[in-house]
Amino acid sequence: MSRKYFFILMALAVISVKSLVAQNQIGIIPQPSSMESQSGKFVINQKTIIYTNKKDADLLNVADRLNDMLKLHLGYQLKTNDLSVNKGGIRLIVDHSFASNEGYEMLVNNNFIEIRGGSAKGIFYGMQSLRQLLPVSKAVTAVIPGLKIQDEPRYKWRGMHLDVGRHFFNKEEVMKYIDYLVMYKLNIFHWHLTEDQGWRIEIKRYPRLTEVGAWRDKVGFVQNQKIGLNVDDGKPYGGFYTQDDIREVVAYAAKRYIEIIPEIEMPGHSLAAMNAYPELCCFPKELKKYTDGPVTTDIYCAGKEESFLFLENVLKEVFELFPSHYIHIGGDEAFKAKWQRCPLCQKRIKDEGLKNEDELQSWFIRRIEKFINANGKKLIGWDEILEGGLAPNATVMAWRGGKAVGDAAKTGNDAIYAVAWPLYFSDGQNNDPLAPGNPGGNTLMKVYNCDPAPGGMTDEEKKHFLGVQACLWSERTPKFEHIEYQLFPRICALSEVTWSQAGKNWSWFYDKLENHEKLLDFYSINYSKRRSFTLDVQRQFLPDRKGIVLKLTPEVKTPVYYTLDGSDPDKNSNVYQLPLFIDKTCSIKACVFDRDGKTDQISTHFFRSHQAIGLKVDLGTDFRDISSVALTDGQLDVWTQFEAKDLNFIIDLGKIKKVNNIATTFRECTFKRHFLPESAEFLVSSDGSHFESIQTYKSNSVPENRANPNRKEYFSVVVGKEIRYVKLLAKNPGLIQGKSIISGQPSKILLDEIIVD
Ligand code: ACM
Ligand code: ZN
Repeated sequence: MSRKYFFILMALAVISVKSLVAQNQIGIIPQPSSMESQSGKFVINQKTIIYTNKKDADLLNVADRLNDMLKLHLGYQLKTNDLSVNKGGIRLIVDHSFASNEGYEMLVNNNFIEIRGGSAKGIFYGMQSLRQLLPVSKAVTAVIPGLKIQDEPRYKWRGMHLDVGRHFFNKEEVMKYIDYLVMYKLNIFHWHLTEDQGWRIEIKRYPRLTEVGAWRDKVGFVQNQKIGLNVDDGKPYGGFYTQDDIREVVAYAAKRYIEIIPEIEMPGHSLAAMNAYPELCCFPKELKKYTDGPVTTDIYCAGKEESFLFLENVLKEVFELFPSHYIHIGGDEAFKAKWQRCPLCQKRIKDEGLKNEDELQSWFIRRIEKFINANGKKLIGWDEILEGGLAPNATVMAWRGGKAVGDAAKTGNDAIYAVAWPLYFSDGQNNDPLAPGNPGGNTLMKVYNCDPAPGGMTDEEKKHFLGVQACLWSERTPKFEHIEYQLFPRICALSEVTWSQAGKNWSWFYDKLENHEKLLDFYSINYSKRRSFTLDVQRQFLPDRKGIVLKLTPEVKTPVYYTLDGSDPDKNSNVYQLPLFIDKTCSIKACVFDRDGKTDQISTHFFRSHQAIGLKVDLGTDFRDISSVALTDGQLDVWTQFEAKDLNFIIDLGKIKKVNNIATTFRECTFKRHFLPESAEFLVSSDGSHFESIQTYKSNSVPENRANPNRKEYFSVVVGKEIRYVKLLAKNPGLIQGKSIISGQPSKILLDEIIVD
């Protein structure tokens, strides 16, 4: 074939599929690896037969699931017959030649719909694609357009989590949630079963866990009551799953190829268990009932043997209930102030030769891991389990940043990417002030654009990267309709992140979703119809050109307006066209407008031109792993944090220059452990060895968690000299004082641009 002819054919193939997409005939979420339009069509009616291997229980199950789907869309189910008598109909066939047992191929023509899968599971995923081609209005026949799909998943871990501790969702709701995971070819349901605010799983040996631990006085979370999401009716709030309920949900999930990973939190996030059995904590007399905040400082006592006996007995019952190879033990946000004060915990530290409470947590997790491994299971924990030394066979769930994935893989441990921004669906997806969920910017587009593939890993390390998961914490979602709102349509974007191999295209996805909403309406799902009117902003610093490129992408298809003079944009302002290059001092304000001419947020960025832009800052040996780029990239309000140690930074201007002024900004945000330095000093030099102090600053601020936690301090000094080197010294304020969950931890200094004029 000539190259020209080949390209024409390729173009026609692309156009034919795209034209079907344009006609809203094919738009499958997640995007299959390849999809071609074929001639013909297959009509499903009441006489259509499902053909499969009737001796295979797995295939009969898959045929049943297909019938569930047809019943929903068409109102009837089809007869199943053996493939050997196949006369054309819907054919479900296992094909062991497939590379992935989750892969499938679907062929539709005038005679049949054939779904071949690497296993019954692969066929099941093919059926989920077929679901999206079924009619979503009253119909007795389904006309499926001729096509060929070849498809397999990108990642083997495609997970979605649900917190049933903060608010309880009954087993029927959980099964509905599982149905939603199924629609998008996810395969893991991470069930967060225990929390400070509620213990949700019946444990026969410890009945008080659910008699006491599953109930609290109030609905909770005053924020929800303020916006009318629920009311405190004075009755105890709560609920739990009996072991029979759990078995029912596990069986339901298994028939839908969903593996349930149970999470039993330890050593923190366990106040409900301690309220039931106070002897499990360090100071039973100090125990409080459930509080409104998401976390408490209570923690299982690591010094008492009873704690381990209890946890092992609980885990034994959990192992019996859940067939999964994995068990999640939490491990996150375990505040260790009580361990610091507890004589038994301190004795444990001494007896085990541990250095501190971080190592005690690590020892705790390792001990539990041994028990879990001895029972033939594998431990998963949140990324805090890396602190103080990782348990040898543990799998790490990275929620605070992707770096944990690389750190785990380096030691040969498996890891899952579940990074909170943008994969916590408990955070908001738009700026609707009445929406359920924590306010936040985990917009649909951010989820869609999330790229979890870790960079800089060796091939061996990459094998430890299992996949991706999103999480839904339920503090702010008291009812299942709120859960649906937070889940949809972001789960659609998640499915493309976890499943799709093909290159992503936001614009195409956006169009596909418009059509897909008809299916969500048909299923009466309470999805978010409101798109975000905030901009996705990507900033790239170009050191050679001493400027930044701003890429402003709206979630909605509408023009972006911007100004460079500090005024708020309106519809007469500049229309953003190309990536915008900025190298002069200015403030950039940009936004999009909704139909009513309103905007959610004006996105504001400050660029400050000065003499040190693009120069490297020597951070010394204490901060070797930290990038100094943001200190001299011209962008204001872009912060770098430096933990525990004093700063001793030097900038070399390259040659002697007249310098009029030097400045920087420190920022305090106490609950994030960011504090103003105890003191700071700018020094200058012309030879790099003799430095002259220009001015010293003292903050007089105690590092302590405060009610009004956020402030900035601009530190600017007049120089008026010919110099070559600028030095910044800043003293870290030390360990955090007072009595709060962050007390005793090291402070961090947060620093903005170092401006040299
Ligand atoms: C977490 O969000 N604390 C895992
Ligand atoms: Zn203790």
